[in-house]
Amino acid sequence: MSTATPTERTLMLVKPDALRRGLLGEILGRFERKGLTIDALVVRTMDAELADQHYAEHVDKAFYPPLKDFMTSGPLAAVVLSGDEVIAVVRALVGATDGRKAAAGTIRGDLSLSNRENLVHASDSADSAKRELALWFPEL
Ligand code: TYD
Ligand code: MG
Repeated sequence: MSTATPTERTLMLVKPDALRRGLLGEILGRFERKGLTIDALVVRTMDAELADQHYAEHVDKAFYPPLKDFMTSGPLAAVVLSGDEVIAVVRALVGATDGRKAAAGTIRGDLSLSNRENLVHASDSADSAKRELALWFPEL
C-alpha cells in the first residue's frame, strides 16, 4: 500500500479570447514546461447553464453579464492539470486577474491587457478545484 500523498489536480480553462488569438499552444506549453501533466483536455463552447454554475460565486455581480457573454462566445479548452501543489502553482503561472496589472512573466501579465478577456481560468482552492472538476469532467 502506498503512503505517498495523491497528486493534486486542478481545472484550468483556456478562454475563448486565447483560442481566437491562436494562443492555445503557447499557454499549454507554459504548463507543460513547468512540469505539470495534462490529464484531460476538451475543446467545447460553454453554454449559459454551465457558465452560471461555473461562476456561481459571481452571478450576482455587475461584471457577470458581459463576462457570461464573453465566456460563451466561442470554443474554449477545459484542461485537467496535475502535479505537486498544482492548484497554487497554476494560479502563480496565470497571474493577477487584471492583465494590465498582472506581473510580467505570468500568462496574463505577458499576454493580456484586459480585466475580462484574461485568457485563462484556474481553480483558486482545493474546494473550488473539486467542485469545478466535477462540473467539467464528471467522468474523472
Ligand atoms: P475572479 O474570480 O475575481 O478572478 P480570477 O479569474 O483571477 O479568479 O473573476 C472571475 C473572472 O471574472 C475574471 O477572470 C475576469 C472576470 N472579471 C471581470 O470581468 N471584471 C472584474 O471586475 C472582475 C473582478 C473579474
Ligand atoms: Mg476566481
